[in-house]
Amino acid sequence: MAITNSNEQVDDSKLDVTLRPQTFADYIGQEKTKKNLHILIQAAKKRNESIEHVLLYGPAGLGKTTLSHIIAKEMGVGIKITSGPAIERVGDLGSILTNLQDGDVLFIDEIHRLNKLIEEVLYPAMEDYKLDIIVGKGPSARTLQLDLPKFTLIGATTRLGSLSNPLRNRFGAIHRLEFYSPEEIKRIIQRSSKILGVSINEKGSELVASCSRQTPRIANRILKRVRDLAQIQNKDIICDKIAKETLDMLEVDHIGLEPADRIIMETMIQKFDGGPVGIQTIAAATSEEVQTIEDVYEPYLIQIGFLMRTPRGRVVTERGFRHLGYDPNNFTKKV
Ligand code: ADE
Repeated sequence: MAITNSNEQVDDSKLDVTLRPQTFADYIGQEKTKKNLHILIQAAKKRNESIEHVLLYGPAGLGKTTLSHIIAKEMGVGIKITSGPAIERVGDLGSILTNLQDGDVLFIDEIHRLNKLIEEVLYPAMEDYKLDIIVGKGPSARTLQLDLPKFTLIGATTRLGSLSNPLRNRFGAIHRLEFYSPEEIKRIIQRSSKILGVSINEKGSELVASCSRQTPRIANRILKRVRDLAQIQNKDIICDKIAKETLDMLEVDHIGLEPADRIIMETMIQKFDGGPVGIQTIAAATSEEVQTIEDVYEPYLIQIGFLMRTPRGRVVTERGFRHLGYDPNNFTKKV
């Protein structure tokens, strides 16, 4: 299983919940967003109101779900978790909304994938806490309006641009989650090791951090695999040697790229001279899905300056060529 893949094994996802920070004080990084959310929560509490609807966006694995749990916990309210594609019918949304309590958080992951009809039901629900439902069919059909509890919607998306304007405009607070600094990732790894009951030395945590694509989910996942290897080798402390051995086994290189990243870039170089090449073509040539490339692989490759998005398609940068051992001036030759 690819380390970047968001489909988790069951044991891992349980552990991910254990590793998840429960309070703002435990949550490392995203300082600006944390500060803003903290103020939003404290002010709402003081007024004895529910907090405004919140939209969190940014690449996968940076902590959107975790922050939503923390918001609900700090507000002292319940949270119901769902996702855009899981809400298939208007009735699904209706039953979720009518089962909430006053103040509860409704978390909708991948909110950009909500179907349009459902989105329209959500507008009055978000704005006036009203649910319009149509009863009956044909000429005898009537509209009923139900009062809803004063809930807070937290929407999460990897693609802010795919959200319709009316939906986006109904959020009172919109925050973008950023990639983490190496220092923050290192602290997260050290915190997670404590929870997992393993010791990791300075060099070990630095090495895992440097290969984690600035993403806590990936850092924790690699850490768990490193711990496995340490365990079967009967080592008490995770050092850089065990970390390196694990990374080699996972085929993750020293900056966190894995085989799929390299295949994408190699394909662009070898078949399309490094681009510009359209995303559909890259997907077809690498047998990956467009959405996987856009959501999982590309954000980090762009972040580290290996790939560029241009109006004519994706382009491998000089830095990207060099990382794969190509001479940017002569793309067929490995240097
Ligand atoms: N585990 C996953 N994300 C984390 C974060 N931001 N802070 C602390 N531990 C984490």
